[in-house]
Amino acid sequence: MDKKKINIAIDGPAGAGKSTIAKGISKKLGFIYVDTGALYRAIAYYVLKKGKDPSLESDVEPFLSKIAVELKFIDGEQRVFVNDEDVSDKIRTPEVSMGSSAVSAIPKVREFLFELQRKIARENDVIMDGRDIGTVVLPNADLKIFLTATPEERARRRYNELKDKENSPTYEKILADIKIRDYNDSNRAVAPLKQADDAILLDTTDLSLEDSINKVVELVKKLPNQ
Ligand code: DC
Repeated sequence: MDKKKINIAIDGPAGAGKSTIAKGISKKLGFIYVDTGALYRAIAYYVLKKGKDPSLESDVEPFLSKIAVELKFIDGEQRVFVNDEDVSDKIRTPEVSMGSSAVSAIPKVREFLFELQRKIARENDVIMDGRDIGTVVLPNADLKIFLTATPEERARRRYNELKDKENSPTYEKILADIKIRDYNDSNRAVAPLKQADDAILLDTTDLSLEDSINKVVELVKKLPNQ
């Protein structure tokens, strides 16, 4: 029989460094890194492209039977496809960020994406990040990390990432958006962002990227099946 796959869940608020840290860990361990936020973003992108409102169930739900969302791993990098269109780069705008937070509160959207996430974790050693991975998607994950940092520190990091791009938002705008998304993601009725009882809290406010990655890698190495 195949060896049971190792599943690591990383949850936390927007901008806590989940994707950068998870990518670093996946490289060190040779696991697949699955960014589940990209799935919600892909749906929001599609809904916005069709001129509809991502916060309205009546606008979003009819699309679910018309779209196929797929993740492909090309040279170890995740790409997300909607109806065979590679949308990986187009989903990184502030508008899609806010839209993804809105569609993610719709129960049918979460149901629609659930099995896709489970299947990838069943078939691969994964490090998967999102908001409900340790609580809902992979409740039996081998290791759960809840990654956080202050809103100001998260906004500062995002600002530094974006500041040299065209039409980059101000620090104040980024901070305001982060606070709105924190509120939406933590207060929705279905699968809200929260730390699983058995997750390890890692506050990265005063940690460098390298230190954050090493801390998680140490925890993985201590797992019994490693
Ligand atoms: O991680 P991200 O910023 O790319 O996620 C975009 C939005 O998707 C986020 O505001 C909330 C939602 N999301 C979710 O509800 N559950 C997940 N597992 C991942 C993301």
